[in-house]
This record gives sequence, C-alpha cells and structure tokens, in this order.
Amino acid sequence: MTTRAAAFACALSLAGCSGVQSALDPAGGDALRIYWLTLIMTLGGTLIFLLVTGVLLYAIFAPPERRAWLGGRRTIVVGGLAFPIVVLSGLLPYGLIVMRDTDVPMPGALQVEVIGEQYWWRVKYPEEGGKSEFSTANELIVPVGSPVTVTVTSADVIHSFWIPNLGGKIDMIPGRINRLSFTAERPGIYRGVCAEFCGDQHARMAFDVVALERTAFEAWRAAQEKPAREPDLPFLSRGRALFRAAGCGSCHVVRGTEADGAFGPDLTHVGSRRTIGAGQFPNNIGTLAGWIANTQHIKPGVRMPSYGSFTGEELRSLAAYLESLK
Ligand code: CUA
Repeated sequence: MTTRAAAFACALSLAGCSGVQSALDPAGGDALRIYWLTLIMTLGGTLIFLLVTGVLLYAIFAPPERRAWLGGRRTIVVGGLAFPIVVLSGLLPYGLIVMRDTDVPMPGALQVEVIGEQYWWRVKYPEEGGKSEFSTANELIVPVGSPVTVTVTSADVIHSFWIPNLGGKIDMIPGRINRLSFTAERPGIYRGVCAEFCGDQHARMAFDVVALERTAFEAWRAAQEKPAREPDLPFLSRGRALFRAAGCGSCHVVRGTEADGAFGPDLTHVGSRRTIGAGQFPNNIGTLAGWIANTQHIKPGVRMPSYGSFTGEELRSLAAYLESLK
C-alpha cells in the first residue's frame, strides 16, 4: 500500500482516532485494508439503515393512497430481493479479497515467537543467519518496511495478540501454533494488547511495538544477543547480590549470571525496555522498586509475589541494578 494511500486514510480518520493503539490510524498495508473494510461496511450499513428507517416511517405516517406503492409487487422484488442480492454479492467478494490479501506470509520475513502468559508476553527471536536467539518480554521490535511473521501460542489460557495499528487479531491457544504476518510501514511506537479475556489482569496485558529503521533494528538485535552487563558501581553490585539472595534467579533469566529461571520474563536487558509490568509503567528505578515491593497490589493475580520485606535502600539498589541492565 502506498504512503499516499496511507496518508489519505489518516486524513480521513477523525481527530482523536489516531494514536499508538488505534485501528483507525493504520501504519501498514494490512491495517489499511482492514481500515477500509471497516469504513465501507460501516458507511454502507449506516446508509441502508437510514434508507430502511425512512421507508418504514413513510409506511407508517404517509396517507394510505400515497404509500400504496410500498405493497406493490415491484417494490418487493426490487427492494426486498434484488437490492440485498446485489449489495451482498458485492460485499462478500470484497471481504474475501481483503482476507486473501492480508496476513500473507512473505519470503524472508523476520520470524518472532510470542507466547501469551498470565499476564505478559514472552517474546523470542529465534536464531537466524548466524545471529543467536534471545528472549525478551512485553516488547516487539521490528524493522520498518520488512515483513514480520509472528508465531503465537499460549502457556496457560487463551489470549489474543492484537496490534491495532498494524493488522488483525490472532488467537493464542495452548497447544496450538498460529501465525500472523504484517509489515510496519511507518516508523514509530505502537501498542499491542490482549484481545481475549484471559483472567483478572486481562486489561493490563499490553506490549510495546517499536518499528525501527533497519540499522537501528540490527543494533538493537546485536545488543540483545549479548549477556547482561556487569555492575560497575558498588551500589549496583549490591543490587545484584540482593537479586541473588532473594532468589529472583529461580524465576528470571539474566544471561551471563547464574540466574536461569524460565518461569518469568527474561531480565537480561530489562533496563532497555520502555515499560514494565506488560505496558503498565514507564521503566525507571522508581517504578521498578514500586513493582518489586507491591506486585500483588498493582496487578493482583499475577504469578510474582510482592517482595515487601526489602528496606528502601535495598529496593533502590535492586531496582538500580535492573535498570542498569540495558
Ligand atoms: Cu491475555 Cu487477555
């Protein structure tokens, strides 16, 4: 889809409908096709509704001699039979064509695996052309203008993967693998959400999608492949010691250290992410400390317990250590 068509679609979308999480602000060809389908179906449905309502009111309120034609054979054949057949015969193939042309797997697409968890997203970039695999969480970084195929499944209940600005939804079903392909055609930050009720914190299950230029994407990927950086300040070393002593490593991986728990999000480069808690807060020392101490207060029902026994000083060094893992 051309940039001009995308710009036209943007101009058409009402002010306030644009944004990082809006199907009315398409940033890729697939989203644009779905946007037009929605627009045409909605406008068409509205026009037909107004027409039928108008005829209905006419039938009720017009004098009997003037509304007699409404009961005629011709009206019934044209309005009741021919009109719906013509309209539906146009809309059905149009819908099928949109379905055919969206979510098309492209050769050479970047492969990413996303696993839905209660209530966060495990994201894996598999090994590819000599680049090693790594995991991250709650963020999907993609190159602009290149096709991406996301392979999705779930670790627990049914979730649904949806990036409104970039394409349609796909269910994440335990024991089953589904795929969704799309291309981000405009650099930027978008917001993905879970679109299937999956438990208490369904509404707080979001993720960041960042579409970067190719060189920036490759730099990000190269940085993510590396093991975690060593603490270079006593304050940060103390944070790492606390991380170790509190047993954080039995649920979280920090590559390059003995922390190898596979249960929770990989924290090797947690400091490089924009948000924490699956899109809940901006990522900084304050929010990290608050999260560790009050997890169950902030997001009741998540698998991570609140660690309320740390002192303020301990929390600060632990959070600073995590924040330093860029
Ligand atoms: Cu996951 Cu709703």
